[in-house]
Amino acid sequence: MTGAASGIGAAVVEAVHREGGTPIAVDREPGDGVRPLDVTDGGAWADLATELTAVHGLVNCAGVTWRARVGDLTAEAMHAVYDVNVVGPTLGLQALLPLMGAGASIVNVGSLAALQGHYPAAYTTSKWAVRGLTHSAALELGGRGIRVNAVHPGFIDTPMTASAPDVFRDASVAEAPLGRPGSPAEVAAVVAFLLSDEASYVTGAEIPVDGGASSHAGAKTVSDALRPHYVAP
Ligand code: NAI
Repeated sequence: MTGAASGIGAAVVEAVHREGGTPIAVDREPGDGVRPLDVTDGGAWADLATELTAVHGLVNCAGVTWRARVGDLTAEAMHAVYDVNVVGPTLGLQALLPLMGAGASIVNVGSLAALQGHYPAAYTTSKWAVRGLTHSAALELGGRGIRVNAVHPGFIDTPMTASAPDVFRDASVAEAPLGRPGSPAEVAAVVAFLLSDEASYVTGAEIPVDGGASSHAGAKTVSDALRPHYVAP
């Protein structure tokens, strides 16, 4: 379980505990019950693998954002975001795969930004790449009975989103048909389902956990604008 020290990752750790699992919580920032592991460090993944005998699940939740728009984006920033969001999950999968057998489950945390053209270009393109990784791995590993899926959170109240201006929260909530932000626990519940045997025939799937934000392709703004003018036929 990567990115376990904060936000959605911490909620997944709690959910897995509740379900009777034994999550190994790792994060770049070590904390209570969280061991230090930088997901971009292949050696650290190899060290972790030597300590384990079997792995039932891997949740790639560690992520970073970079809010430069496409015209201002530097190659360095783009590499830094890709290293964590794309290379990290790939290294984790590669290191733990030998310890996984039939029934194991990998869950990649993507983003609503992976389902549309979100404005932070490095983050958006990296999360689209997470979709590609999910589908490639699902194809590759299905024969071994290993499932690979993605969840795409919409606006979730976490330290990551708290670092953005309030207007980001307001505008995001306005686009969600449920009309509110999500909580880390609401994402964790879907991750826990995908990890569990309840999802035994689900692989290569992508599940938005976004209050419906990805479902209307921008039509909500139009619908909301016209509602006051609606005259029943
Ligand atoms: P967060 O910032 O609260 O937690 C992210 C965690 O990842 C932090 O504990 C951080 O230390 C860790 N991390 C960063 N780089 C790392 C590295 N190189 N190695 C190990 N750990 C590292 O963020 P949040 O919101 O909980 O995000 C979790 C995931 O959900 C991320 O992948 C993010 O992109 C995704 N997400 C979040 C959304 C939101 O609205 N909060 C929306 C869509 C996706």
